[in-house]
Amino acid sequence: MEFIIKSGNPEKQRTACVIVGITESRKLTPEAKAIDQVSKKHLSNLIRRGDMDGKTGQSLVLYNVPGMLADRVLLVGCGRERDLDDIKYKKIIENSIKQLNETGASEAVSYLSQLPIKGRDIHWKVKQAVEISNECRYEFNEFKSKKNRDKKTIRKLVLTVPSRRELPTGEDAIKEGMGISKGVKLTRDLANRPANVCTPSHLALQAKQLAKSYKNLKVNILETQEMENLGMHSLLSVSAGSAEPPKLITLEYYNGEPGKKPIVLVGKGVTFDTGGISIKPSPAMDEMKYDMCGAASVLGVMCATAELGLPVNLVGVVPAVENMPSGTATKPGDIFTSMSGQTIEVLNTDAEGRLILCDAMTYSDRFNPDVVIDIATLTGACVIALGKYATGLLSNHSPLANDLISAGEYSNDRAWQLPLWEEYQSMIDSPFADMANIGGREAGTITAACFLSRFARKYRWAHLDIAGTAWLSGANKGATGRPVRMLMQYIINKSAK
Ligand code: BES
Ligand code: MN
Ligand code: ZN
Repeated sequence: MEFIIKSGNPEKQRTACVIVGITESRKLTPEAKAIDQVSKKHLSNLIRRGDMDGKTGQSLVLYNVPGMLADRVLLVGCGRERDLDDIKYKKIIENSIKQLNETGASEAVSYLSQLPIKGRDIHWKVKQAVEISNECRYEFNEFKSKKNRDKKTIRKLVLTVPSRRELPTGEDAIKEGMGISKGVKLTRDLANRPANVCTPSHLALQAKQLAKSYKNLKVNILETQEMENLGMHSLLSVSAGSAEPPKLITLEYYNGEPGKKPIVLVGKGVTFDTGGISIKPSPAMDEMKYDMCGAASVLGVMCATAELGLPVNLVGVVPAVENMPSGTATKPGDIFTSMSGQTIEVLNTDAEGRLILCDAMTYSDRFNPDVVIDIATLTGACVIALGKYATGLLSNHSPLANDLISAGEYSNDRAWQLPLWEEYQSMIDSPFADMANIGGREAGTITAACFLSRFARKYRWAHLDIAGTAWLSGANKGATGRPVRMLMQYIINKSAK
């Protein structure tokens, strides 16, 4: 979808559809008022008759509005003006796109980007409108034999700003929003692909293609033998049962101050998680194709950062494996030595994410990182604790945690911090090795992070558990692209400093 920035009055727009807001109760926004005036009270008459009182979720398409050059006017309910916040804005933009798609309009001019949202400026409103509209229009039909090509949908959306003065700000916001949307789409596409297509080798190929598309991106893929030589026996213990060869993918992007320490992102890339010998129950096991959402978000962020040419040093590390049961698979009780030298007793082969992340985190040390952020669909416990709205966040450095929390708030892709207190560490004690890979039923998200923290002693580190946020189940099943928007905001904030 194409976005354009414009200023000017609604009645002057020669377009298929002009979109304006109505707030509660039965109040016209300034742009709706302008239409009301040229149409000799067409809108206020209609609203008085009770067709719309401005509740969020309501909408109304009007044809042949007197005095208007546009074919249609779409009224969108915005709720009470004083309640307009980030979440309401998202709903309003989504409603407007859904309603537009019900009409035959292929282009529109939206005035919703001028709604007064608490604490948000025009840059934020335009950028959010771009990202939300793109995400809302996303479809995954790579595997449908009939693509619904004939469906006419909106192709061009003009977002308006109050005056000519804001045009450059608006254009900037569109550029940023489009770059981020590209990353989000890549993340969702990769994650939605089935595990028979999206294998570790597939992820490696995708990384290579990214490096081909952007000259600033350098790719490196480690194969089994090289990982063995490095002593990554924890990572390799997870792929031991699979016919798919494991890959350790690295993408490097150095476009910031020379010599400045990079941000390193580590993404869990389990392309399918059966649980291994500690096999998972059958219901909904198909969803374990999403166990590479951390990896997909790292590739999405690398893509968006390169696309925007951000002045930052950034490295992405993706351990990619498949977790399968077989005669060669790891067994409960097996002990492995990780690349760090620490030994691990694998009590449950289904707690595999931490086993691949720990070696990737030790490996990350060679990039001399400023910070390391790992992203993983790590624990079912996180889904129980926080549900689908908040990503779990644990960190050994509170300024880093705070930076991520505020980036999440700004981008409406939020995280909530859980404690990483010393007391929890003893829960992963093992009688036979330096640590066990599970810590019992209690505090599952925290004990998983405790495990990872033992491989993060040399640097500032944060862990994002996206088990609840990376995809939706049920009727709307599919990858969300989270937390690409949060991470992009974190990187944008960092590169501005
Ligand atoms: N990939 C899963 C976590 C998961 C489960 C994500 C459900 C989303 C939905 C992870 O590898 C796993 O199996 N974790 C176990 C850990 C346990 C064995 C300590 C879990 O959470 O049950
Ligand atoms: Mn598992
Ligand atoms: Zn897993």
